[in-house]
Amino acid sequence: MVQSTVGRPANDRHPDKPPLSLQNVHVSYATRRGKVQAVRNVSVDLHAGESLALIGESGSGKSTLGLAIVRLLPETARIEPGVITYRRNDREVDVLKLSRSEMRAFRWSDCAMVFQAALNAFNPVLKVWAQALDTAQAHGWHDKPAIRRRLVELLEFVQLDPKRVIDAYPHELSGGMRQRVLLALALLLNPQVLILDEPTTALDIITQRTIIKLLRQLKQEEHFTMIFISHDLAIAAELADRVATMYAGRIVELGTSDDIFYRPRHPYTLGLIRAVPTVTGGFEQLFSIPGSPPDLVKLPGGCKFHPRCTFATERCQQEEPELEQVGAEHSAACWNWREVQAELQRNPLHRGALNVLDGIGSEVEGS
Ligand SMILES: Nc1ncnc2c1ncn2[C@@H]1O[C@H](COP(=O)(O)OP(=O)(O)O)[C@@H](O)[C@H]1O
Ligand code: SF4
Ligand SMILES: [Mg+2]
Repeated sequence: MVQSTVGRPANDRHPDKPPLSLQNVHVSYATRRGKVQAVRNVSVDLHAGESLALIGESGSGKSTLGLAIVRLLPETARIEPGVITYRRNDREVDVLKLSRSEMRAFRWSDCAMVFQAALNAFNPVLKVWAQALDTAQAHGWHDKPAIRRRLVELLEFVQLDPKRVIDAYPHELSGGMRQRVLLALALLLNPQVLILDEPTTALDIITQRTIIKLLRQLKQEEHFTMIFISHDLAIAAELADRVATMYAGRIVELGTSDDIFYRPRHPYTLGLIRAVPTVTGGFEQLFSIPGSPPDLVKLPGGCKFHPRCTFATERCQQEEPELEQVGAEHSAACWNWREVQAELQRNPLHRGALNVLDGIGSEVEGS
């Protein structure tokens, strides 16, 4: 059973003000080949208690964006230009202006991130208890019995046996157990925002389901605000309130989970959905997006998706579209989004695969 102390109440004093707001965020990496434009002009508000999924192929900038928010990018990276604003109640923080020590405090107690490849995120010579103690003490929390009580409570929440885990070294735990320990550690200081980067990748299906259930509980019962990074659309459909599709470092479509999975308007999102193998579907439904993502050092002109897009017209090669409103809470960056809509009316989606985790129904495009 979840303890009421696992989470913290949503930012209820300013429900109109999002806890996290990104404006025109660009991130590049300096490399020998030139500047890798990993994130370009991303603007998005994260509302209190909502979970936002970032989807897109590998290399689309999802992890870079997550790392930029908690400022854990390597030295070669630059966040420029861009503004990241964090709000908790009356406090408003310009994340990109925080000092190193302020940033360390922010990273665990306001906005915590569980990394991709989390299995390597532990210090191998520290037992779980020592890792938790280190984290807590680094943030000025020195009450050992209280820290231990909280860790036990969180380990129970992630369905681990504290007796077995608390004095274990990371290598003594299975991958699924380590992932859950990391989730518990991320919750230790009661962050308001949780960023999860591919939290279920490389886990077996049963452990995946356990983690998804935990995340859903954190969201529904504890009102965590989450950014959930995944290339697995079924899991995004299961957990997200809103979804942002990323391509070549930009958000090319943003909408509610229903908008994105029932009524995609960007050809790339449509391609991602059509590429999900259906459980009940036959071979004729298998599809993959032709070509491969662009070189982020030498981006093509116009819409960055045009070399791979079956909807491309001449304009697409010259001009890059901005996000445009295509529905009440839905925007897409595509000159030809109405063609996508028409195409869906002709050839509705088969969303069998997105039903695997009973997240989404199987209606067809009708609007
Ligand atoms: N440290 C780095 N140095 C140079 N390029 C990087 C670095 N980290 C990531 N990249 C590049 O930035 C782009 C975005 O990567 P990433 O954010 O990891 O994408 P995703 O998480 O969507 O797979 C990719 O082209 C990747 O090769
Ligand atoms: S703008 Fe053109 S190339 Fe880009 S996604 Fe839309 S139709 Fe395709
Ligand atoms: Mg990644």
